[in-house]
Amino acid sequence: MVQVFCIYPDGTRDDSRPTPALDTIKALTGVQAWHVDAEKYKTDDTLSMFRKRPDYSYEDIFQITPEILETKKIGEEHLHPDGEVRLCLSGGGNVDVRDTEDRWIRLVVSKGDLWSVAPGVFHRFSLGDNEQGTFLRICMGSPCWKAAFRAAVGDSCEERQRYRKIAANGFQF
Ligand SMILES: [Fe+2]
Repeated sequence: MVQVFCIYPDGTRDDSRPTPALDTIKALTGVQAWHVDAEKYKTDDTLSMFRKRPDYSYEDIFQITPEILETKKIGEEHLHPDGEVRLCLSGGGNVDVRDTEDRWIRLVVSKGDLWSVAPGVFHRFSLGDNEQGTFLRICMGSPCWKAAFRAAVGDSCEERQRYRKIAANGFQF
């Protein structure tokens, strides 16, 4: 089950802020999370909700190791124009997302945890105490896994302009 708490930028826990409830993080961050039976994910109703959407047309399984984390820069703050949907099939890690006030919130994910990150939300991933994580990833159209790194694009890129509109609408899009 996904664990949620506030963190400082260095990843240490920030207890000076109230811990957000899982069902409130969508309004805070644009992230939604569920828990499903990872052994039966092919027939899971929650996952089917994404699969049935006509714009989600591709899925594969990929593994994150310390080496891949380094080479793909997954641990660096980035966004995706189309958001991302992931299901943890084994291992796990930390999904850190920025809230609407640009503060970090951490989701600790493990086997069976399913989450979606809205388009334009800055986020990053780390393995935590896990040696690896295996994930199902679902995306729109042809997979390009396009990521825009905050250090490169800053906060005024086109994706962030769209993000602000989505966030102002409570991440209903
Ligand atoms: Fe990402």
